Amino acid sequence: MAPSYIGALDLGTTSNRFILFDHQGQIAGMDQMEHQQIFPRPGWVEHDPLEIWQNTCHVIRGALGKIGVAGKQIVAIGITNQRETTVVWDPKTGKPLCNAIVWQCTRTDAICRQLEREGGQDRFRPKTGLPIATYFSGPKVKWILDNVPGARAAAENGRALFGTIETWIIWQLTGGVSGGAHVTDVSNASRTLMMDLETLDWDADILKTMEIPWQMMPRIVPSIDRQTWGHTLKEGPLAATVPVCGALGDQQAALVGQTCFDVGEAKNTYGTGCFMLLNTGHQAVPSNHGLLTTVGYQLRGEKPVYCLEGSIAIAGALVQWLRDNLGLIRSAPEVEALARTVDDNGGVYIVPAFSGLFAPYWRADARGVMVGLTRYANKGHIARAVLEANAYQTLDIMTAMNKDSGVDLGSLKVDGGMVANDLLMQFQADLLVVPVIRPAITETTALGAAYAAGLAVGFWNSMAELKSFWSVDKIWSPQMDDTVRQAGIRAWKKAVERTFGWED
Ligand code: G3P
Repeated sequence: MAPSYIGALDLGTTSNRFILFDHQGQIAGMDQMEHQQIFPRPGWVEHDPLEIWQNTCHVIRGALGKIGVAGKQIVAIGITNQRETTVVWDPKTGKPLCNAIVWQCTRTDAICRQLEREGGQDRFRPKTGLPIATYFSGPKVKWILDNVPGARAAAENGRALFGTIETWIIWQLTGGVSGGAHVTDVSNASRTLMMDLETLDWDADILKTMEIPWQMMPRIVPSIDRQTWGHTLKEGPLAATVPVCGALGDQQAALVGQTCFDVGEAKNTYGTGCFMLLNTGHQAVPSNHGLLTTVGYQLRGEKPVYCLEGSIAIAGALVQWLRDNLGLIRSAPEVEALARTVDDNGGVYIVPAFSGLFAPYWRADARGVMVGLTRYANKGHIARAVLEANAYQTLDIMTAMNKDSGVDLGSLKVDGGMVANDLLMQFQADLLVVPVIRPAITETTALGAAYAAGLAVGFWNSMAELKSFWSVDKIWSPQMDDTVRQAGIRAWKKAVERTFGWED
């Protein structure tokens, strides 16, 4: 009998991937394509939803073709995606009304300030777990309805649907204009600033406040569920009818991929941004220190698992900026070699507040700074400051996490592209003063989506079985002298303060 696989579609900020996982949770095949990052104005970030759909088709066919697997050998599909990014499209034509507004985009600043003036930054926090910020989807939908000609009337007449990226792609995969499923998973919905964390449904008052018609909203369904997502079409890129059985926001998927199923388990993913999630079980724990309360995942028929999250907007994106905007390196991995040309940061600190500062500060008025420059500083010091910025931002999150949860995290499980960087991981362990642990499979985001779908269809039987797949690849232990550490933290804090007040 031909072997069977679970397919994971990983729809990230910079690329889309399709990865096939076998019964042992090992990667059997994959394909990947980057998509265009569109920056029409300072602070604005867009994606072309049709390009994302075309690339999705391409990578599905590519991954199957590379290892000679037929679509019918895929038992189920799980989807994971960049969260908050907002698409509005016409269900009759399948055309987006405008480009997708990406999670990093700051164009909704005026909308957010208006909402804050009327009720404070935390007015929706008790229901949604989130502060008002340009990051989340609700203000992005409002921006489209207020600014794209005809959008509001279309939304009121059923000619404009809202979705985050998984919603858009699931709609395409399951039928598109001939009746695709219009659904979102509860973890993605919890990132919109419109979902009530208790009822797990859209909040009518918030929709009314933001003037968003209910009829454009997708149905919210459990993340891990064999019944409600629908099937792929035979005419589609899989050329087979395959059930879509799971969807998770990418950070929640990484939590699942790292098998952080127990209360108190946490992971940190270094991707375009950097996101630490702590499992708080069936309890939605409010944050008093600038973190988010969010849904981790939900199995059909069960209560959701909640998380505290620390979100950093710019992590790997800072290395890309060093490559693309400054031309100091030709490829992202080169940053480590450049950073190793010097012994320390030479007093240089970079705070990459390119989209304002997210957790724990939530300052839309912040903009990036590079401080501590002298004639001594060279590109090696800048490369080091780039890497260190990720570790310092993570320290800020860990400090808030410890305060909010009342538990000192004894170690940190890490994943994402940047965990290949030894210099960064050692510096991270030094700053946090806890061991930093990298698992054998660092493709945890796609793995989490695969686990979700595989659990839903019984490809894997239990979370305990999934835990047995997890193994350590490398551990970095703290080594830094505490005086050096404290001096660095003091300088970082000063640098963070310099970012405030640039946009009024
Ligand atoms: O909330 C944004 C997040 O989902 C983006 O993730 O992997 O692109 O850094 P990533």
